[in-house]
Parts: sequence; structure tokens; C-alpha cells
Amino acid sequence: MHTIQTAWRVGRAQLHDSPSPALDARLLLGHALGCDHAYLAAHGDEALTAGQWADYAALLARAAAGEPIPYLVGHAPFFGLEFEVSPAVLIPRPETEGLVEVALAWARGRGAMRAVDVGTGSGCIAVTLARHLPEVAVAAVDVSAAALAVARRNAERHAPGRVHLLRGDLLAALIPGFDLITANLPYVAGPEWTALPVGVQSYEPALALDGGPDGLDLIRALLPQAAGRLRPGGLLLLEIGWRQGAAVAGLARQAFPAARVEVRPDFAGHDRVVAVWEEE
Ligand SMILES: C[S@@+](CC[C@H](N)C(=O)[O-])C[C@H]1O[C@@H](n2cnc3c(N)ncnc32)[C@H](O)[C@@H]1O
Repeated sequence: MHTIQTAWRVGRAQLHDSPSPALDARLLLGHALGCDHAYLAAHGDEALTAGQWADYAALLARAAAGEPIPYLVGHAPFFGLEFEVSPAVLIPRPETEGLVEVALAWARGRGAMRAVDVGTGSGCIAVTLARHLPEVAVAAVDVSAAALAVARRNAERHAPGRVHLLRGDLLAALIPGFDLITANLPYVAGPEWTALPVGVQSYEPALALDGGPDGLDLIRALLPQAAGRLRPGGLLLLEIGWRQGAAVAGLARQAFPAARVEVRPDFAGHDRVVAVWEEE
């Protein structure tokens, strides 16, 4: 018979290859038992039923084989909120919070305006912007209907009625007049594919990752579309791969010859965001 405490210990040992075995095992245990961290901490001596143990053991086996924990438990944290995720969407990354911080710092206090998030996936960027910027009309686009279904549920939960979700290819279907455009588009280059961790390569959607031979296919296509749709004085923010700063800044300068273009690092010091400040 296993108690909550012994089950957690078994999980920590089984997930020893993970950088965070204690957290991962706790999340899986909470998911199998349908309870939160506080309950687990307070009821360490409680026995698991045979069914609960079987569910937990099955989750541990899948995690040990490389399946990402957020897909197993169905949610992931982003900017202080929990977002539903499924294998139809990229798992929100902490690096992307940096892009949101730049957007919020710029947009706060500017009053009513229009924003669009391109390649919205789980909706993490668009929903966070809508939640923190009550005066901003937020749209979000993705080419994947399955991703939009997840984004819709996240928007309903965290920013009800605030995010206008659209299916489309980049900005092709949207009329000009945006003050803020954000985009975390696929940017993995062909040759980098095999170097991705197994959890990313085998479980996250290729549609969310594959940026073509040099990783820049989608960004290259978006830039001229954005140039035709960003208002004077507006801001475009692109998340990029850590080796793409100079290339994307060059493409951005071609598409926006009069704009100020900046490459910004993430918390690890790697190039992560290209910001394009369009002239007034
Ligand atoms: C890297 S994921 C980013 C998801 C989310 N914005 C985030 O930051 O976690 C890229 C997203 O772009 C979408 N996408 C790929 N090609 C697209 C296209 N041509 N037009 C619109 N969205 C596209 C994918 O379906 C995926 O959801």
C-alpha cells in the first residue's frame, strides 16, 4: 500500500533524469488524485486507492519516457496564470514572458488601442495582454483550428469576452490599423531539429516549431504584412531563436526602413526578442 508520501518518493526516484523530479512527481500525483499541493502536503499519511496508484504509475511511466508534464496534467503556468495545454499547442515558455513584459511596459497608460497576437497557440500572449490591458482590443490569429479551440477556452477562463480569435495565415486576413503586433512564430531551423530535447521533438506540434531551412520562413513572411498593418508610432515584437538576432533585425530594417529596431536578451542573456518601434 502507498501513502501520498511514499508515492511521491517513488515518483521522485523514477523521474531522476528530470531537472525537477520533486516538482514533476508532485504535479503528477496531484493530477492522479485530483488535489492540489496544499492537500498533498497536509495529508502525507493518507493511503492511495488501487485505482489512484495505477493512474499515478501510468503517468510516471509516460513522464519517464519523455512526455512533457504539462501535456500529462493538461496545464502550464504563464505570467502568473495557469493555461490549458494539449498536444495541439506549444507549451508556454518562461522566455516568452519577457516579450509580454516589453509589450505591457509600452502599452500601459496609452489608453485604447488595437493589438494582435500572431501564431497565438494556447493564447498565452494574447490572453495575458487582454487581462493586463483593459482598454486594449486584442485579436489573436492561428492557422490551427485545434490550437484556437484551446486558446478560446483559455480566453474564456482568464479574459472573458476580451480576445477576438481568428483562424488565418499570419495577418493576411486582417485589415491595417494595429498599434501593437506580437508574434512568437515557429523559428526552429531544419538542421536544429534533431538537437531538440526528445520531449519537444516527439510531443510538441511541428506546426508550432518548424521555421523552415533557416528557421525564418514565417518571420520573413510576416514582416511585410506587419509593415502594412502597423500604425505610425506602433510596436512590433517578435520572439526569435537565440542565434537569429542579427538576421531578424536585418529583415526588420528592410521591412521597416524608418523604424528603430532593437534586439533584446532573455533572462539567460540570449537574443530573444526583436522590437520594431515604428515612427510617429
Ligand atoms: C511557437 S508557437 C507559439 C504559441 C504561443 N504564441 C506561445 O508563445 O506559446 C507558434 C504558433 O504559430 C502557429 N502558426 C504556424 N504557422 C502559422 C501561420 N502561417 N499563420 C498563423 N499561425 C501560424 C502555430 O500553429 C503555433 O500555434
